[in-house]
Amino acid sequence: MTTVLVTGGAGFIGSHLADRLLAEGFRVISVDDLSTGRIANLAEARGHGKEFTFFNMDVRAAGVQQLFERHRPEIVFHLAAQSGVRPSLSDPTNDASINVMGTLNVLECAARAGTRKIVYAASGGTIYGDPKRLPAKEASAQGSFPMSPYGISKKVVLDYLGFFQRYRGLDYTALALGNVFGPRQDPLGEAGVVAIFAQRMLAGEAPTIYGDGNQTRDYIFIDDVVHAFVQAIERGSGKLVNIGTGLETSVNHLFRLLADIAGFEGEPHQGPLPQGELRRIALDISKAPGAIAWKPWTHLEDGLAETVAYLKGI
Ligand SMILES: NC(=O)c1ccc[n+]([C@@H]2O[C@H](COP(=O)([O-])OP(=O)(O)OC[C@H]3O[C@@H](n4cnc5c(N)ncnc54)[C@H](O)[C@@H]3O)[C@@H](O)[C@H]2O)c1
Repeated sequence: MTTVLVTGGAGFIGSHLADRLLAEGFRVISVDDLSTGRIANLAEARGHGKEFTFFNMDVRAAGVQQLFERHRPEIVFHLAAQSGVRPSLSDPTNDASINVMGTLNVLECAARAGTRKIVYAASGGTIYGDPKRLPAKEASAQGSFPMSPYGISKKVVLDYLGFFQRYRGLDYTALALGNVFGPRQDPLGEAGVVAIFAQRMLAGEAPTIYGDGNQTRDYIFIDDVVHAFVQAIERGSGKLVNIGTGLETSVNHLFRLLADIAGFEGEPHQGPLPQGELRRIALDISKAPGAIAWKPWTHLEDGLAETVAYLKGI
C-alpha cells in the first residue's frame, strides 16, 4: 500500500483530497495545525481506520522530519498555507514564515526521506499579478508582479520546486488553482465568496459586494480540483498547470446565481474594494489536458447548488 502525505489535510481542499486518496486505496498521513482547518472535516477520513493518521502539527516544526523518517511518504500533497490575501497584506512576515519557510521545511524533509514527488497547491488567482492577457497562461508567471505577499509567497515556491527537482531529485507538479468552492469551505472565513454569500443568504441576510461587483474570477468546483491533484500523481512532471474553467464570472453574476438557488430576494450591501484585489482573472486551461489528462467537469450552477445544499444541512 502506497503512503502519501497531505499537509493542510484538515482544511477545505486538503480534507476532500484525503477522502479521495483513501477511497483510491492509499494510506494517508495528514498534517495540519488546525489554524483554519477543522477536525470536523476529517469525519469521513477517520472512518478508514488505520489507513488514516492525523498529526496536529505545524509544517515548520522539527517534528515534521521525524514524521517523514518514520512514514516515508512516496507522494506529498503540500496544501498547508496561510491561505488568505488579506491576512498576508496585514502580516507579510507571518505569510512568508508559513508559506515560504514552512514549504522549505516540507521540501527539505521530503528530499531527505526519499519522497518521489510533491504536488503543490499554487494560486492561479494571485501568482500572475494583473495579467496583460486573459485568460492567463502559465508562462505569464515569468516576470509577473503579484499584488499581495500571499501571491509573492505562492510564486516564489515555484522556483524552490524547480531547485529541488534539479538538484535534490524531488519531482513536482504545481497546480495553479482558480477560486475553489464547494462543501466545507469556511463560510465565516475571509476568503471563499461562494460560501460567504450562500451562508448569508440562507440566514436571510444580505451579503456585501465590494467595489462595483464587475470584478471577475475563475470559479472551480472542489471535486474537479481534487481530481487534478490525483491526476498529478503520475503526470505533469516539473510543470505548472492551471486548474480552472477558463471562464470569467463576475461577483454580480455569482450573486444572482446564488440568490436564485438559495431563494434570496434581497439586494446586496455595497462596500469599498480592498487593496490587493484583482479586477479580472480567468485561467487558460489549454495545458492541463496534455500535462495531467485533466479538464473541468462541473458546471458552475451545479457546483453552487451542491454547496448551498451542504450549507443548508449543517
Ligand atoms: N481555496 C482556494 O480558492 C485556493 C485557490 C488557490 C490556492 N489555494 C491553496 O490551496 C491550499 C488549500 O487551501 P484551502 O482553501 O483548503 O484553505 P484552508 O485554509 O482551508 O486550508 C489550509 C490548511 O492549512 C493549515 N495550516 C495553515 N498553516 C499551517 C501550518 N503552519 N502548519 C500546518 N498546517 C497549517 C490550516 O489549518 C488549513 O487546514 C492552500 O495552499 C491555498 O493557498 C486555495
